[in-house]
Amino acid sequence: MDFPCLERTPIWKAFSEYGKNIFQPNGVFYWSGRAKNEAKINGTVGAILGPEMELEDNDRDRIITFYIPMIREFIQNDPQELVPYTPITGNPQLQEKWMEWIIFKGKNARNLPSGVIDLTGHTSLPVIVPGLSFGIFTAVRLFLDPGEKIILPDKHWENYIAIIERQCGARITTYPTFAELNGKQQYNLDGLREKIEQSFIIQQKAVVLLNFPSNPTGYVPDTETIKKMKNFLVECVENLQKPIVVLCDDAYEGYVYDDSAANASVFYELTNLHELIIPIKIDGATKEMLMYGGRIGAIALGLHDSWSNPQQLRQYCIEFENKVKGTIRSTISNSNTYTQTVVLKMLQQGFDKILESRQKVVKIIQERYELMRTLLSVPIPGITMDPSGGAFFLLLNLDRKVSAIKFNEHLLRRYQTGFIPIVDEKNGVNALRIAFSSIPVDQIAQCVENIKNAAKDLF
Ligand SMILES: Cc1ncc(COP(=O)(O)O)c(C=O)c1O
Repeated sequence: MDFPCLERTPIWKAFSEYGKNIFQPNGVFYWSGRAKNEAKINGTVGAILGPEMELEDNDRDRIITFYIPMIREFIQNDPQELVPYTPITGNPQLQEKWMEWIIFKGKNARNLPSGVIDLTGHTSLPVIVPGLSFGIFTAVRLFLDPGEKIILPDKHWENYIAIIERQCGARITTYPTFAELNGKQQYNLDGLREKIEQSFIIQQKAVVLLNFPSNPTGYVPDTETIKKMKNFLVECVENLQKPIVVLCDDAYEGYVYDDSAANASVFYELTNLHELIIPIKIDGATKEMLMYGGRIGAIALGLHDSWSNPQQLRQYCIEFENKVKGTIRSTISNSNTYTQTVVLKMLQQGFDKILESRQKVVKIIQERYELMRTLLSVPIPGITMDPSGGAFFLLLNLDRKVSAIKFNEHLLRRYQTGFIPIVDEKNGVNALRIAFSSIPVDQIAQCVENIKNAAKDLF
């Protein structure tokens, strides 16, 4: 990225190295801006959008960002719920409730190898942070020195690069996300394992980031995959006697449409699995409560019995919280009081009630997902679809003879349809991320038709 105007001024000379190097790539924002202006079908937005009348009982067809309907009851607050500072680690009542929410999700898990999991007494009190991005930043700061490596699949959320590399100076090393096994594309556990073993050679620890359901593929692991992952993680730490930190980015936890996939995070399985496995859970209200702009995330540590005796547990968690607290205080100071209040009030209604209220929105996107997947299952020359089953996305791999950027440009200009192209030449990624979450169901058939026609034009 060039800064020709700034570079000609004394400001450039005054910049720190960080000031010179930091930049925001056009990437997602460029393409979503283009789609907003040029497309009739906009599949770029990582949020759930649709005509208002689909969510509310009215006849308004304006496109809105969908929300959990019960939120309406809680958005006219007393100024006292808005103006005071909250403690650095968050509203204590919300911390408690968020811990209960985490435990609730484990107790209602589907398709985890251990069945349902009760983490009572096995997680630190979640610290409230302003969104998952900040939770990821905090975890990276706490576990990686500049230059150290973190392991990611090659198809990952683009902002990881900015947080991990440009902001924190750590390095990303990737493995191919999927590999063919028994004639099927499966999560590439061998690739992950290889990267862990390589990390152990050059570092005193391995740090892994897992994001299920995934942005950008929508992939969610099934029972067998999680079982295999657990087994080899234990083997790796036992063989080399070094710790593995597993950052679980659970942004889309619960958005699972495939009956055989796990609807709760691998964090539940990794907690108390082995003393050398350190699971960190990063989740939040952004997608789970459909409050993207609310900026409420949480970060919690999964505890192993051997780390502490029960009497010391509280003190032990306070020490971990203090680390997160120091990071928050020295950067953004603390999180938004008002939205913490709103999330707390929603959670206080009862978790089943929240899920019931959210279900209306989940049904809407599940219908979009199923239709889109069915229509895209018919082979299209030059295009293959990655395994999926959750989150807000599907990923289409394009034959490398046409760059995904060119393909998306063509779709936009000729068919007024826009997605996010993902190109990583080094790793051979050339794909289109389709956010079905932002495409109303009555546009989906046309959307797929446009993809097929663009493929006919270009391949
Ligand atoms: C995989 C993933 N992680 C984290 C985030 C960031 O969430 P937040 O808006 O809470 O910072 C997103 C947002 O799109 C995401 O897709």
